[in-house]
Amino acid sequence: TPYERLLPAPASARAEGPGYPVGAATVIRTGPAAGAEVRRVAELLAGQLRGTSGLPLPVDHGRAGDGIRLRIDARAGGLGEEGYRLDSGPRGVTLTARTPAGLFHAGQTLRQLLPVSGPGTVPGGRITDAPRFAYRGAMLDIARHFFTVDQAKRYVDQLAQYKVNTLHLHLTDDQGWRIAIDSWPRLAEYGGGTEVGGGPGGHWTKDRYRDLVAYAAERYVDVVPEIDMPGHVNAALASYPELNCDGKAPERYTGTKVGFSSLCVGKERTYEFVDDVLGELAALTPGRYLHIGGDEAHSTPAADYAAFMDRAQAVVARHGKTVVAWHQLASARPAPGAVLQYWGHDRTAAAEKAAVAAAAKAGHPLVLSPADRLYLDMKYDTATKQGLAWAGYVPVRRSYEWDPGSYLPDVPETAVLGVEAPLWTETIATRADLEFMAFPRVLSLAELGWSPAARDWGAYSGRLAAHAARLDAQGIAFHRAPDVPWEE
Ligand code: ACM
Repeated sequence: TPYERLLPAPASARAEGPGYPVGAATVIRTGPAAGAEVRRVAELLAGQLRGTSGLPLPVDHGRAGDGIRLRIDARAGGLGEEGYRLDSGPRGVTLTARTPAGLFHAGQTLRQLLPVSGPGTVPGGRITDAPRFAYRGAMLDIARHFFTVDQAKRYVDQLAQYKVNTLHLHLTDDQGWRIAIDSWPRLAEYGGGTEVGGGPGGHWTKDRYRDLVAYAAERYVDVVPEIDMPGHVNAALASYPELNCDGKAPERYTGTKVGFSSLCVGKERTYEFVDDVLGELAALTPGRYLHIGGDEAHSTPAADYAAFMDRAQAVVARHGKTVVAWHQLASARPAPGAVLQYWGHDRTAAAEKAAVAAAAKAGHPLVLSPADRLYLDMKYDTATKQGLAWAGYVPVRRSYEWDPGSYLPDVPETAVLGVEAPLWTETIATRADLEFMAFPRVLSLAELGWSPAARDWGAYSGRLAAHAARLDAQGIAFHRAPDVPWEE
């Protein structure tokens, strides 16, 4: 039954009894007490279901009746902030949640219970579902190659239907500065003016950025912006001579080496820059997190690195946000509450993993992005044209078959805030390349983040194969990876 084919798998599902035929007379009902947000969720779902079914599916805010019903129930037990219940019988499908976010996720499940196209019957039964981890993210690097807001929105749509709730944007790097900062305009205007390979690059205005944040929020996706510091900053150094210790701006950079640039840690002007940039970014960010990078600062001496990160973290706190940083911060002094994003792999030194475990023990939540599991820019295998292989090849099975709750030695599941799949774009320049590398592996991320721990590759790969028609119908340029038994 379709209950057994859902991606990500729900916490519990039981098919039983006759179902509900969604047809020309079907109405989507919120009930008269629904607030504006529930009405908006209903309209969004209606639009999605109209697109695939071809049915009119009007949204009705009046009395109860047959149809697709959205209900907030503040007392619904066990559903948490994002969970939901879905009940299907002959009179209708009822979606119940404590929050509008839960109703949104319920609606995405409902989409998968209906045919890829045309009207159909939602099989009878009940789903009770809630996520395993609170943070389920994907990262897009728009610095190495520039991607537009419209491309990011398309990725948000693709991700949100699988209950991914965080889009981390890598906004700055050696090769480009992609977000307008009013107090330092040359960052975007000049520092954003190229990319890997020497193309024209580009940047996002604040209005376009706000538009994306609002678009994502309507789909219950939180945007986490990253300004990578104190390394990965050549685009900033090239834009402002005063940020350099010697007062001389370097050329812009269009290669793919890492670790050669550093902010000038001893200069007060550097901290005015950090405060201005993070302040403007905080003002653009309704979510709680600001990511300050902190990886691969190979040109910053260790003591300088720790001193810089102390001050950068204090700036984030002063602007009312919580720090996220790559796990190298564990070897410096993570501020109280700072979230560490682990991006090591099987060959990462035990001492480095131990430093991360110690930070977790000290109360720092972890987001797990093992490079040899969840880096979407790693090649699938030797035949993959795009991508890198420094962490090894990552076939779909490898991306799926591991457990975030027991992955790092001495890190209990309770220390794991969630999982994230980054897509670095040194070799990725087009929407087709992005989708080829992300799909289907980002679905592993979605299931690792949402579904209960029990995992079976045989069953999952079968579900994934059956799902291909939905990816095709959405025009997603996914990779028919050889380890998945795709149907013809
Ligand atoms: C990273 O891949 N440098 C976080």
